[in-house]
Amino acid sequence: MFILGPGPVLTAAQGPITFNKHIAPILNEYCAPCHRPGESGPFPLLTYQDAKKHARQLAVVTKSRYMPPWLPEPGYGKFQDERRLSDAQIAVLERWVTAGEPQGDPADIPAPPKFTEGWQLGQPDLILTIAKPFALRADGEDVYRNLIFPARLDGFHYVKAIEIRVGNNKLVHHANVLIDREHTARALDGRDGQPGFAGMDLQIESEKFDPDGHFLFWKPGTVPFAEPDGMAWRMDDGTDLVLNMHLQPSGKSELVQPRIGLYFSDKPPLLRPMLIQLENDGAIDIPPGAASFQVSDDFTLPVDVRVLGVYPHAHYLGKDLQGFATLPDGTKKPLIWIRHWDQNWQAVFRYQDPIFLPKGTKLSLRYEYDNSDNNQANPNHPPKRVLAGNRAVDEMGHLWVQVLPAVTDAQGSESARLSIQESLMRSKLGKSPQDFSANYNLGAVLVSRGRYQDAEVSLRAAVRIDPANPTATNSLGAALQALGRVDEAVALFRESLRLRPDYPSAHYNLGNALLSQGQFEPAIANFREILRADPKDVPALEKLVTALNAQGNEFARTGKLTDAMECFREIVERNPDDADAYTNLGSAYAIRGDLAEAARNFERALQIEPGHEVARKNLERVRQDLLRRKK
Ligand code: HEC
Repeated sequence: MFILGPGPVLTAAQGPITFNKHIAPILNEYCAPCHRPGESGPFPLLTYQDAKKHARQLAVVTKSRYMPPWLPEPGYGKFQDERRLSDAQIAVLERWVTAGEPQGDPADIPAPPKFTEGWQLGQPDLILTIAKPFALRADGEDVYRNLIFPARLDGFHYVKAIEIRVGNNKLVHHANVLIDREHTARALDGRDGQPGFAGMDLQIESEKFDPDGHFLFWKPGTVPFAEPDGMAWRMDDGTDLVLNMHLQPSGKSELVQPRIGLYFSDKPPLLRPMLIQLENDGAIDIPPGAASFQVSDDFTLPVDVRVLGVYPHAHYLGKDLQGFATLPDGTKKPLIWIRHWDQNWQAVFRYQDPIFLPKGTKLSLRYEYDNSDNNQANPNHPPKRVLAGNRAVDEMGHLWVQVLPAVTDAQGSESARLSIQESLMRSKLGKSPQDFSANYNLGAVLVSRGRYQDAEVSLRAAVRIDPANPTATNSLGAALQALGRVDEAVALFRESLRLRPDYPSAHYNLGNALLSQGQFEPAIANFREILRADPKDVPALEKLVTALNAQGNEFARTGKLTDAMECFREIVERNPDDADAYTNLGSAYAIRGDLAEAARNFERALQIEPGHEVARKNLERVRQDLLRRKK
């Protein structure tokens, strides 16, 4: 596949190798994206003078394949935007240096590369910022920082791309964005007096099964990835984005105030990918000095999928990282092989063509770690025992595989996603049965699949492992409520609210359960509690109206008409366009004998909905009574 040794460009007929003819095109394409002012490279590589100044170094770093940074081994997955020099190009660079770096004929010099300044994808539709910059110290070890960007949107949007601008690209090696719909990260924000919080890896807890199947990854020197049509993701008002950054001190202290640019799409998502995480962090316990410590994980696909991309991840001790698939017929397909891991150059790798994998295919991770003194990246000299964890001195071994269920209809795709999630959680529990989030997530997915009895088992396990977790307690209540065990459910919702008094979902569930028991007053109080925090919460509003209505009818039935009127009046206030609400209020007035007021309300109902039968009949009757009274 690759031309070994001197390629066709090196034939004598084409004359000597010169900068203008042979070297500039290579530098423009492979080096200049980073080696230019404002980008991550330590010096520019744009002109002959630039190249000459670093000539020897260029030959050395390209020959060792340190530059341009590109980790995957050729022949193990065909990736988009492969930034890898051929052996022939490397030989050309070396020969140019050996020949004394001739500049060549000015007529040969190619047009300079064109770069877009500022936002690479054009002006974003929305730019998110943080209020206060993060102060990065002048020197010392790399810094891993998570910053929280609250997003205010008008309703929701479909996001097709994100771009991160940090101001100084030299400071940031790479960044990941996590979507935090339930503000779980906020509790950690600013505890050390600086915006955000420390940590190399980050997990966001989520209440529902709604996995985000997108790699929101960014690194300097690349044009951000825009999702194809139909693969945007939905972002709602009030969502937090958490930016997880790997920062490198520059020698002077710097203020870092990144901005996240969001690009919207008007096309709703039709294709919803998923991220399958292979890992076995529980097995990471690397003795000091171990030069090839191995970790493995396997996961069997429960459905047909297409693999879109992979994101391998390890920290400083990672050495040889392999991912592959074994098809049901035994065929082995490589996904990626990185022979010399360097966590500084980690990236998301997207395939040129998606890889189809049938149901029953086994995905495998085989990672090797070097905790010896020979590993220059080892943070410990002499080496120490290293366990899994999210600090830079801990280790990790993840392979994220982005897959798209290979079915075309939305229903089939959703059910495929649920079965992938179920298999993933079961696989996790096989490795660590006491994993809280695996138990919780399995329970959540079983609830989504309507398997409440099975869900109860998993959610009970989650609550047993972490009895102080309001989310798990609330979800267990919801499963029992679905099984018709309302009293038990009510007790769990109350417990969840004891653990977290402002928890909207538990208020909603408790309100609902009480409503089903005919306990209108406390039900209404719970819906009001949600609306106090967020007056625009539509489901809570609807439930409040239902509860008020039920209570109003109850009052009307038992003759407490003033109270009924209160309820109906409030409903009218909250729903000025609801013909039913006016009809109810009118009826209450009629029963109380206030016929004029009753007629006014029926008329209002008919203005809104001219075909409203009940309002029309009631209005007729009330008008007749009014006439009779006059006589
Ligand atoms: C993705 C961005 C990127 C690309 C593409 C890139 N570089 Fe670099 N380069 C860097 C960064 C960042 C550094 C400094 C950090 C380091 O040395 O790891 C660097 C460092 C270097 C160094 C100094 C190494 C040392 O040991 O101090 C040389 C020489 C170099 N690059 C040459 C090249 C050449 C030649 C190319 C193209 C064939 C290239 N780079 C492509 C980002 C890039």
